[in-house]
Amino acid sequence: MKTSSTRRFGSRRLGLFADSAIRDMSILAEKVGAVNLAQGSPDFPAPLSVKRAAAAAIRGDHNQYEMTMGSQELREAVAAKVRSFNGIIADADDGVTITCGSTEAITAAMMAFTDPGDRVIIPEPFYESYLPATILSGATAIHFRPREPGYVLAEEDLKAAFSQKPKAILLNTPNNPTGRVFSKKELGVVADLCEDYDVLAITDEIYEHIVYDGHRHMSLATIGNMHERTVTVSGLSKTFSITGWRIGYAVAEKSLTTALRTVHDYLTVCAATPLQRAAVTALALPESYYRDLAATYDKKRLYMLKSLQELGFSCSRPEGAYYILADFGGISKLDDFAFANHLAREVGVAAVPASSFYTNRQAGRSKIRFTFTKKDATLKEAVERMRKGL
Ligand SMILES: Cc1ncc(COP(=O)(O)O)c(C=O)c1O
Repeated sequence: MKTSSTRRFGSRRLGLFADSAIRDMSILAEKVGAVNLAQGSPDFPAPLSVKRAAAAAIRGDHNQYEMTMGSQELREAVAAKVRSFNGIIADADDGVTITCGSTEAITAAMMAFTDPGDRVIIPEPFYESYLPATILSGATAIHFRPREPGYVLAEEDLKAAFSQKPKAILLNTPNNPTGRVFSKKELGVVADLCEDYDVLAITDEIYEHIVYDGHRHMSLATIGNMHERTVTVSGLSKTFSITGWRIGYAVAEKSLTTALRTVHDYLTVCAATPLQRAAVTALALPESYYRDLAATYDKKRLYMLKSLQELGFSCSRPEGAYYILADFGGISKLDDFAFANHLAREVGVAAVPASSFYTNRQAGRSKIRFTFTKKDATLKEAVERMRKGL
């Protein structure tokens, strides 16, 4: 909310982006007692061994600043993980930076690699921190929309965006909010254009372990020579259900890493020291942990898809991540903000108005986003409320 003091003292930059619709809906959910399917944070516990490791680290007095680039152990664990899971060869000393969540890694990358006036390609709909990160860096966004149905990256749309002389592209796969997992072919086109136009890629792969129906997550950095020009961003928030711990990372070749670390140092100094120790324990969990995670989310996905369709929403089937973008045009003629407000206040379920993920607000006008990163009982309660109230 922009108050009169914000208007008096706020910077011009601040006027260029809106407050977070996700945060606003979460506040509204709290106020009116709605089931919060707006914010993508789990309401179930994190793995016990990971929590124990955090408690032990605090008991062991690991309380002081960690090295700005992240602890040696965690950087080594991340380097091993990206090698085995993503197929990226990264040097723990020169190629991995631990950040305060992937959100900080993206902002640090944007600040390290763009100057005022530079352009950054951001396909829309997009995760809400991308635009502020771009604007705070003084850069401007080039938007284009993956084609519906299916939110497909079309070659000619990509070519049109790249021909506008961008410095970088920011790509999120598996995607929030669409649920797309971009294919090898789509990523191949992006890679070719990055090489042709000498463009840097920043990838947000925070949902890399949550994919369905046999889809496979692929890292852009593994295609051709893309490792030389890609900052691969991910983190532990979603995979280990610890969104409040703020542990993320950026993986990139040496000179990119050096630049990003300089910004990271002055932005946040370091990620929380005891939680970095616990993150090492998290990354050592066995393969079965990741299989169970995806299988658990798959059940929730199918339950919510079926329930929302029965309620009259029209939904595309997510290939990854834990959101459903639902079209409510068959239920109501309200716009998305009015519908989301009605749903929270009168029906008791909070979701995110989808126009907040677009620069062209008309594009998301009849859609809202539900998350299913909640206990089965929470999802059931939300569905019951909608059955009664819609
Ligand atoms: C696409 C995407 N990127 C990044 C984040 C934030 O991740 P982190 O907790 O690592 O900052 C989210 C959270 O919802 C997200 O959906």
